[in-house]
Amino acid sequence: MARRHDRRRTDERGTDPHATDAYGDASYDGVPNVGVPNVAAPNVGAPYRADRYGAAQAVPAIELRGVRRSYGRGEAAVQALRGIDLALAPGSFTAVMGPSGSGKSTFLQCAAGLDRPDAGEIRLGGEEITALSETRLTKLRRSRIGFVFQSFNLLPSLSVEQNVLLPQRLAGERQDRARARELLERVGLGQHARRRPGQLSGGQQQRVAIARALITRPDVVFADEPTGALDTRTAHEVLGLLRQAVDSLGATVVMVTHDPVAASFADRVLFLAGGAIVDDLPHPGPQAVADRMVALTARPVGAAA
Ligand SMILES: Nc1ncnc2c1ncn2[C@@H]1O[C@H](COP(=O)(O)OP(=O)(O)OP(=O)(O)O)[C@@H](O)[C@H]1O
Ligand SMILES: [Mg+2]
Repeated sequence: MARRHDRRRTDERGTDPHATDAYGDASYDGVPNVGVPNVAAPNVGAPYRADRYGAAQAVPAIELRGVRRSYGRGEAAVQALRGIDLALAPGSFTAVMGPSGSGKSTFLQCAAGLDRPDAGEIRLGGEEITALSETRLTKLRRSRIGFVFQSFNLLPSLSVEQNVLLPQRLAGERQDRARARELLERVGLGQHARRRPGQLSGGQQQRVAIARALITRPDVVFADEPTGALDTRTAHEVLGLLRQAVDSLGATVVMVTHDPVAASFADRVLFLAGGAIVDDLPHPGPQAVADRMVALTARPVGAAA
């Protein structure tokens, strides 16, 4: 079973953040929504977009201050995030690793505005998002966050190009076909724009998902185990594309992964344990990442915070 399905849980508020938010509208042109993230793009090509993807910027793409999230109450309460402080620069590629239960999925959901922390602040491109109404949060998430999931989540009845354009279409925005074509060229699928996802390999489908995540020029692309379902060689191709999106398009990528080799494509690896960031490794090599993971896994969870 795909790992991300582990996260399709119902928390104590009775909500399933993925079902209600990341998967968005219940139907689209009569096609059941089988898992399309609500990433839509107003103002494609507007000047402020260029700024966001410009060179050095003072405003972090995403910033977390004192972010806490617990589940349950009383003795049964679990502190999933114990106070996360973090600022990621635009145009950076960050991997997030940690043992099972360390809070990676909770971190990703809070940072992506899919779940609300109990305390702390989260700023996306300088805008505080934790206090936003549900409607405004949904709108902001649609326009300013991209998602890449382990299981690709393409709509099977749409062509590759239509899948890439879907975020714009869902938001009722102008569909920028030229940009969709350009992104498909970038991910090596220029020839396959008219195919259906079912006619593509897993690696090719994930490349479509990357193009889809980028079409809105989001502040941050969150990738959740993007290579978890791929063989090693295909995984490398996909990771190379994420790297390229950062290096040549100025995208900001945050990727949760269990794979030290995948993490080594990032500029930096953050290690979570027991709901806290316990280590931060710049310019990670696979061996160094693996060594730190071994050390973390050996450490009692309670000792991490
Ligand atoms: N809905 C929930 N209700 C109660 N506890 C939860 C819930 N979701 C997560 N937790 C707990 O919060 C902690 C962090 O969980 P989280 O899913 O963020 O970990 P993770 O690092 O993503 O783990 P994995 O690598 O296994 O996916 C764990 O102790 C987990 O059991
Ligand atoms: Mg998880």
